Amino acid sequence: MKGLKFFACRDSVNLGRKVARLLGKRLGRLHLSNFADGEIRVWVEEKVKGKNCLVFQTTRLDPNNRLIELCLVASALKESGAKKVSAIIPSFGYARQFMAYQPGETKATLLMAKILVASGVDEVMVIDLHHEKILDLFGIPAVNLKTEDLFVQAIKNLDLKDFILVAPDKGSKPRAASLAGKLNAPYVFLKKKRKTKGFGREDWSRVFDLSGKVRGLDAVIVDDEISSGGTVVKTASLLKERGAKRIFVLVTHPVFSGQTYLNLTQAPLEKILVTDTLPLGKKAFKALPNLEVVSVAGLLAWAIEKKSKD
Ligand code: R5P
Repeated sequence: MKGLKFFACRDSVNLGRKVARLLGKRLGRLHLSNFADGEIRVWVEEKVKGKNCLVFQTTRLDPNNRLIELCLVASALKESGAKKVSAIIPSFGYARQFMAYQPGETKATLLMAKILVASGVDEVMVIDLHHEKILDLFGIPAVNLKTEDLFVQAIKNLDLKDFILVAPDKGSKPRAASLAGKLNAPYVFLKKKRKTKGFGREDWSRVFDLSGKVRGLDAVIVDDEISSGGTVVKTASLLKERGAKRIFVLVTHPVFSGQTYLNLTQAPLEKILVTDTLPLGKKAFKALPNLEVVSVAGLLAWAIEKKSKD
């Protein structure tokens, strides 16, 4: 850990500072501003020559700006003589497009990985990545941290008696199954249809085919993220329709794009538990009094410390 320098881009300052403090560190002096036309300007005031540097930046929600900001910081650190730059990307944007869904599309995830590497990033650390396959696209050391133990504890803290875990789609089924195993609880899953062909209505989804009974049980929906909120809202209403008692949601990434707040307020949700891989403003807590945060700061601090000993 000695000699390791910590930096954070603008939207990840809170989390970066929290992690740094847990490790007895502080964030390095980094100035970021915008020209009137939006161009980002970076100035690394800290001495980094020959040092290993960590940069925190989430690249979901407003991914284009957030990613470029991270690339500019990585590049500035390298040009200032940093030996190694590790990007800590708690929520990695452009992860959905790791494959082309129809001819004529690009594998956007691969392109973003290449841009990061070209900017000087030597290794990445992410949390609950959309798909494990993405790690190989970087071509540099890449670690995907799992929130599973945090989630097990968060569910235990809810102190539920008769409950069932719910995977709203195929992607979240392994997560629900594994949590169910650790909590000694049953789980059910749904099928989800998205519109991946053609253009328009990219966030549209439909959930159907609940695999088992939920009547009389509290239900905990587990997923990697809430983006538009469509998946959670539709899953919650189906569960209610089928007789579930209270409905809880536990997701890693609170992307909360567009009308999400509005959508979530209309759903029968007892509690919405999310992590801090993305910053949430006061607006979120005001709109959603049932919103609570489970921090990933401890998980990141543990992983960074472990990596520094390797
Ligand atoms: C992918 O399908 C993910 O696991 C999430 O279920 C999804 O991204 C949530 O998106 P939304 O909130 O827009 O339905």
